[in-house]
Amino acid sequence: MAEARKAFVCGHPIAHSRSPLIHRHWLARYGLAGSYDAIDVAPADFGAFAAALAADGFAGGNVTIPHKEAAFAAAARRDGAAAAIGAVNTLWLEDGVLCGGNTDAHGFAANLDERAAGWDDGGSALVLGAGGAARAVVHALKERGFRRIIILNRTVERAVELAQRFGAGVAAHGYEASGHWLRDADLVVNTTSLGMHGEALPVDIALLPDDAVVTDIVYVPLVTPFLAAAAARGLRTVDGLGMLLHQAAPGFERWFGTRPQITEALRALVLADIERTA
Ligand code: ATR
Repeated sequence: MAEARKAFVCGHPIAHSRSPLIHRHWLARYGLAGSYDAIDVAPADFGAFAAALAADGFAGGNVTIPHKEAAFAAAARRDGAAAAIGAVNTLWLEDGVLCGGNTDAHGFAANLDERAAGWDDGGSALVLGAGGAARAVVHALKERGFRRIIILNRTVERAVELAQRFGAGVAAHGYEASGHWLRDADLVVNTTSLGMHGEALPVDIALLPDDAVVTDIVYVPLVTPFLAAAAARGLRTVDGLGMLLHQAAPGFERWFGTRPQITEALRALVLADIERTA
């Protein structure tokens, strides 16, 4: 029998992570001997944790808040997405060398590919928020050929910094200018945490074109007030749960050797957990 491989998700806090549910589902589904555990690592301990992965017998693991930048620094090799985003969410070992990748942009795009075919046909995207999640989203949009990406953020300086990181075709503004940009956006992405607290975003969905696609990377609640307002207007909407599921797949393949599928059964499993704990 193949040796059981060990993987993890580390963060601080980590108790509410749904990654173990996802990866354990795949281990069982593909009949693989392996484990995937949530590990709480305090910020001061992350460097030592990363340095000891091989000695501790791990094949690799996921990294979440607040360790994604520290994981980027700890990785001796990084994939292109991690380099562009400046953060690592997936670690693995190659010949004992710690490697870091970022699968958040892939997860974002794969979710939209699955649930809103043609989402990247237009050239103009509006990104709300300028935190770590927005960095991955802007990278994905550039990769998919969006010609104009407008970042709107409460703290304009943060949006400007993000726009500068990605260069040509990416611009930054405050919300007071949102009406102008909403009128010809093909895609609107909420990356702010506002929907988690039931708060409305300071943008007027009525101004969007009728064929705009609206997505939120928040998935608790599954239907944020922003998505609900867009759906009520008859716009195509995509919730954030698929991004969580799709970002998990490349790591699983690296550690356990099988590319897992994102099925309706998996989505239902995670949804049930959200409904039970939210
Ligand atoms: P993450 O890394 O998950 O993206 P973050 O870095 O804390 O998280 O970013 C959260 C985003 O939500 C930011 O764009 C933040 O705006 P600021 O940069 O101005 O803080 C946005 N956000 C949070 N609360 C907000 C609020 N009440 N109104 C508007 N934007 C808000």
